[in-house]
Amino acid sequence: MIKPHGTDTLNPLFVQNEKQRTQFLQEADSLPSIVISSAAAANAVMLGSGYFNPLTGYMNRADSLGVAENMRTTDGLFWPVPIVNVVKNTDGIKGIKRIALRDPNLDGNPVLAIQTVEAIEEFTDNDMKLMTEKVFRTTDPNHPGVAAFNSVGKIVLSGPIQVLNFSYFEKEFPETFRTAYQIREEMQELGWEKVVAFQTRNPMHLAHEELCRMAHKAVNGDGILIHMLLGRLKKGDIPADVRDACIRKMVDLYFPPNTVLVTGYGFDMLYAGPREAVLHAVFRQNAGCTHLIVGRDHAGVGDYYGPFDAQTIFREEVPPGALEIEIFEADHTAWSRKLGRVVMMRDVPDHTKDDFILLSGTKVREMLSRGEAPPPEFSRPEVAKILMQYYQSTQE
Ligand code: ADX
Repeated sequence: MIKPHGTDTLNPLFVQNEKQRTQFLQEADSLPSIVISSAAAANAVMLGSGYFNPLTGYMNRADSLGVAENMRTTDGLFWPVPIVNVVKNTDGIKGIKRIALRDPNLDGNPVLAIQTVEAIEEFTDNDMKLMTEKVFRTTDPNHPGVAAFNSVGKIVLSGPIQVLNFSYFEKEFPETFRTAYQIREEMQELGWEKVVAFQTRNPMHLAHEELCRMAHKAVNGDGILIHMLLGRLKKGDIPADVRDACIRKMVDLYFPPNTVLVTGYGFDMLYAGPREAVLHAVFRQNAGCTHLIVGRDHAGVGDYYGPFDAQTIFREEVPPGALEIEIFEADHTAWSRKLGRVVMMRDVPDHTKDDFILLSGTKVREMLSRGEAPPPEFSRPEVAKILMQYYQSTQE
């Protein structure tokens, strides 16, 4: 199986031994504590899951700046996005070595992790600007990722953590939330070596379904890992339970058994386009995948990124050998009226725009809200039905 990023074996930060975990939880009761941001909590869940291997905790200022500027920590580790625990104030934790991190997303703010605080530093305004520019390629406060990144504070608490649970993800998505080590185990049991990962934050329409099939065939894969984001999204995006239902229906009906794993991970969407695509590649390698599909406007939002910037970054900015996972570069995929099937546009140079069925996201949402199914060339009817029910329920 493909090696994790940076080490020979995966080192998830979730404390798997139950006795030890109970001891840590008891210790946490007596420690000073803080309620962390949703982004820091999502980082803890990813660190606990092994997805952020080989990191051992939250980055300090120098590592965050190095990662933002040239995708390297001060030790030379390749990493695309700062993984930080940033807070607004340090009341009650100044000078304290071990602190309990409380979950902002659950009632009563239970303890999520324990951090050994190695340093408390402050990002300057310039640091924040530089990191925002490098990671998001814009400082526009209307960008949802930029807004979230700049809203949590500037004091950076760095140091290793022990993760004690997986926040709301395990309880809310018991069938779908999986850690990187669980996915590796499952793939080993299935005897999969060559695996294509599909990142998604949307319900899957026919073009996405076919994209998975095309990539799987092109790399001669053993299986497909559909890996959906289960954390926070911007307003207007479809909730994870609805997407999960759509994807499961599509896989049950249209893929042969044991060829697709439908899974999810606990992270908030950054909408950082190219940089997020690189992070996606890192954590799919950690989950044991050999390939990641990167298509049109991967992890993008609005018009902040060019449609294929998330592919270009792998060619122009990721040094050779930095990652073992390979990228399957997908072109714009849509139904061809001429050929009567989904195609990648680069494969049909004779086609003009009118030869494709192209529907904007807004148009599809309007149709679904009216209880009108998009054409079967765009969406599987069974998937459309779930989406229509969802859109109509939001209007009641
Ligand atoms: S993402 O933010 O998680 O990337 P989304 O769920 O919409 O968004 O996309 C999942 C993957 O499918 C991404 O790699 C994206 O680039 C790709 N993709 C989505 N739609 C198309 C399309 N019509 N043609 C090519 N690639 C696509």
